[in-house]
Amino acid sequence: MGVLIKKSMLDKMGEVIAMLPSSDIKETIDKTIKSKADKFAIIEALFQKICAKKYSDETMSFFLNGWKMTHLKMLPIYGVSCRLNILGMECSDEKKKLSYLESSAFNAQTSHEDLGIGFDAISHGRLYDEFAFSLTKSDEWKLSKYDIQKANNFSQWVYRGMLLKSIPYALCINMISEFYNHAEYAYAYETFKYSMSSFYGIEGKALEDAIRYIDVHNEYETEIHHFMAVIHAIEKYEEASGEKVDTSTMAEVIVTYVDSITEALEAIAQKFD
Ligand SMILES: [Fe+2]
Ligand SMILES: [Fe+2]
Repeated sequence: MGVLIKKSMLDKMGEVIAMLPSSDIKETIDKTIKSKADKFAIIEALFQKICAKKYSDETMSFFLNGWKMTHLKMLPIYGVSCRLNILGMECSDEKKKLSYLESSAFNAQTSHEDLGIGFDAISHGRLYDEFAFSLTKSDEWKLSKYDIQKANNFSQWVYRGMLLKSIPYALCINMISEFYNHAEYAYAYETFKYSMSSFYGIEGKALEDAIRYIDVHNEYETEIHHFMAVIHAIEKYEEASGEKVDTSTMAEVIVTYVDSITEALEAIAQKFD
């Protein structure tokens, strides 16, 4: 038995879905997410396992390397905004041009916190480094010998999907990623707070500093704001292009995202056996 977490990942996702006005998008997310309940149970069990005791620096390094690959995605976000900028700059219809550029701006909002805008220019990449250093007291986890192939594959799928697939597909990846992260970070925050204080001897202010990377995504509901920003980016893209982001694409992206991130996290967790 691990630490008791009051809200499951599905509970956290349900809270976000409840904020949306009735729409095809809301219905699609709700239905597709519920069909993946078994995967979220697997992911929760993995975080419980990773946080159940103190592991060696070597084992923890596989987690730190792999988890980073499945989460930090500032570059592909920038890529989608650039693609929308190009569409806007090349568009001769003034109204549509503005909508493309607004879609780009809403999408770019999902990287403001990650860059450290409003947070003394302290990026989430740096916060992640500090979180990792507190657990292993080194930066060794960054070495390729700790790569988890399935986590790298997931990262590549995100990058290539957001740069090369259709704009609706790219925006759907960003959307589900923010939505998923909201639930995962909330869960991971509880499990890591428990393990870092119980097994790694990190407490008080040191714990606050060490866990800040997870906490900034949790306490300020950062990922909910990002999710809403992508919803606005989708609306503006629909206005500009005159095409509806079709719900079968959205469902396909959600299923692929959840299945692949589960596989990546399972591969990481195997190192903890
Ligand atoms: Fe972030
Ligand atoms: Fe985000």
